[in-house]
Amino acid sequence: MTVPGDRDQKKASRRSFLAGAAGIAVAGASGKARADNPKNQPPNVPEWTRSLGDGVGVRAYGQPSKYEKKVIRRTVEWLTATPESSVSFTPLHELDGIITPNGLCFERHHSGIAEIDPADYRLMLHGMVDRPLSFTLDDLKRFPRVNKVYFLECAANSGMEWRGAQLNGCQYTHGMVHCVQYTGVPLKALLDEAGVKSGAQWIMAEGADAAAMNRSLPLAKAVDDCLVAYRSNGEMLRPEQGYPVRLVVPGWEGNIWIKWLRRLKVGDQPWHTREETSKYTDLLENGKARQFTFVMDAKSIITAPSPQLAPLNKGFNVISGLAWSGRGKVARVDVSLDGGRNWRAAGIDGPILDKACVRFYYEFDWKGEALLLQSRAIDDTGYVQPTKQALRKIRGVNSIYHNNGIQTYELKPGGEVENVEVG
Ligand code: CO
Repeated sequence: MTVPGDRDQKKASRRSFLAGAAGIAVAGASGKARADNPKNQPPNVPEWTRSLGDGVGVRAYGQPSKYEKKVIRRTVEWLTATPESSVSFTPLHELDGIITPNGLCFERHHSGIAEIDPADYRLMLHGMVDRPLSFTLDDLKRFPRVNKVYFLECAANSGMEWRGAQLNGCQYTHGMVHCVQYTGVPLKALLDEAGVKSGAQWIMAEGADAAAMNRSLPLAKAVDDCLVAYRSNGEMLRPEQGYPVRLVVPGWEGNIWIKWLRRLKVGDQPWHTREETSKYTDLLENGKARQFTFVMDAKSIITAPSPQLAPLNKGFNVISGLAWSGRGKVARVDVSLDGGRNWRAAGIDGPILDKACVRFYYEFDWKGEALLLQSRAIDDTGYVQPTKQALRKIRGVNSIYHNNGIQTYELKPGGEVENVEVG
């Protein structure tokens, strides 16, 4: 789809943009650069209308169209020391709305994907409890359950950006976040069943993967809103996301959402595991490190236009993006076209849920000038997503975790988009 360069941009509106584009298509002037086939276009009868398609049952578990093969999780070679202890990124630039499809949720494994036979699955609950318990998967499914939409963000999301713009595309800079609807049991219900002893303050959650990944979870959070979840977007969790059971810790860093959950031990102090001492602590400028920084602060990212998508056309366009906050609901999202000098409120479409992603849109008429696109999230506590410079004043440039700084994209006159920094 192309738009004439001599358009009167002052009069351009959504209505005139779409009307003009349709006129060009009928005149046969579009699609020069695409591998399209006029025989399949109106007024001809296309090939897919002239023969029978696959019958029911051929696609017993549905897959996306064969024309959507580029919509996949991707890895970054230089970040992947070994594939068993690495990350793949959500293709945020190819998605819309707030729900991430199960097959596209980013992966972060420490010792590969455990493949657990649900018949042999057990969840141990022990330590400072009146009655140590062992739950089968069927036991967990008999408890009263809830359905909750939450974002999950790795603490290291955008971690490479502490030292400046390095990776070109929101899939790589911000793709360690996803948002799905979980079905599961409130952790409080399991703790009540076991009876927590007085003096208990922490829970150690442990996974059944080859790393036996474990973290210390404050009891107050556990009984507040944590879930022991077994479904994502209605179906059982994918193996990559902890099948058959994972911990859900709303608004907190992904590392503590233990996958393949096998053990919960109640105690009176944290365990100081590997993942909360040598990793997942936040280096400060003075060389000391903060421990137990759980909450993911408000953050947003423009997902389209994107360095990974086709260059932007002049005329009417919609900037689209995601925003989220680990402290509550997103109250507002602002968009800047000039690198943060001027801000305007974006529209939010769809549900605004506690500790879940929201989808924002910002409509604008692009005349082809260079722009510096930014977005910033403001949550319902009044917290405003900070600039990267403001974060670096406190944290230096050697951090990895909790980088929620404002992202800048340069929109070039040709329509290409590049990840840049503004000073
Ligand atoms: Co942290």
